[in-house]
Amino acid sequence: MCRNIRPLYNFEPATTHGEVRNAATQFVRKVSGMNKPSKANEEAFNRAIDIDTYVQQLHSDPRELSSLYEDLLIGVTRFFRDNDAFAALEHRIIPDLVERGKSEEQIRVWVPGCATGQEAYSIAILLHEAGLLERTLVYATDINPQALQSAASGVFDAARVPAFTQNHAASGATTSLSDYYTAAYGRAVFHKSLRERMVFSDHSLATDHVFAEVQLVSCRNVLIYFERDLQDRALGLFHDALCHRGFLGLGSKESLRFSGRSGDFDDFAPEQRIYRKAAP
Ligand SMILES: C[S@@+](CC[C@H](N)C(=O)[O-])C[C@H]1O[C@@H](n2cnc3c(N)ncnc32)[C@H](O)[C@@H]1O
Repeated sequence: MCRNIRPLYNFEPATTHGEVRNAATQFVRKVSGMNKPSKANEEAFNRAIDIDTYVQQLHSDPRELSSLYEDLLIGVTRFFRDNDAFAALEHRIIPDLVERGKSEEQIRVWVPGCATGQEAYSIAILLHEAGLLERTLVYATDINPQALQSAASGVFDAARVPAFTQNHAASGATTSLSDYYTAAYGRAVFHKSLRERMVFSDHSLATDHVFAEVQLVSCRNVLIYFERDLQDRALGLFHDALCHRGFLGLGSKESLRFSGRSGDFDDFAPEQRIYRKAAP
């Protein structure tokens, strides 16, 4: 399932190169909170031969806006990225979820900033290996509609799959990644049984609220692009979304140490950037 993204921008008319740049920067900050636009940002502006026309286009043509979106949002992702973090998920968090939950309880996971879905699929695969997929729901959210559509399709470039397979094996997997997809014509199509347990939806950590109670939030490599205020906002959402003593996983270069919300979480496996909602 993949909802359409809402119109999120509201530029003031801009006439100079600097104003276009400021307007676009504000746009990116407003919808994403990211404070480190990519180098492609620069190129996007340099491509605009006639600035007035470009601004008009941004106002009126959703395709141009969506292409700017693609340029500015950083969607780098991989299956089982940082395999030691996924090993910790498999060997420490999932057994804890099983032990704590009643056998009929649904396991809900939220993957904010999922990009094209590899992190969410990796988690669904681990839950399948643990025999839990049937009672699992993975909410995979992002603000990039193209990325969400790609994620929901479950189709990935087959040329990249060998590297993903290595990551999967290195995380201590008990199955082969090839059990989960069918390869044809240069594409790897991940099985419907995984996709049926996943909900893909637009959600902005900058402007939206919590929408579900979950046992695990896995938000890897997103906060690193946010300014401090927005990091704190996102962490507040994660805290509110997590059930009692729920888990939070961040990316390997992210930490709660300097956050205004660090008191809301306890260390669980800090070397893998895994935390736990503090007891009230
Ligand atoms: C580097 S990717 C991370 C992908 C994945 N989590 C991983 O670690 O492999 C960052 C993603 O964050 C998304 N993003 C940026 N700002 C966001 C916001 N305010 N709310 C939700 N997602 C956002 C981008 O669209 C992009 O897909």
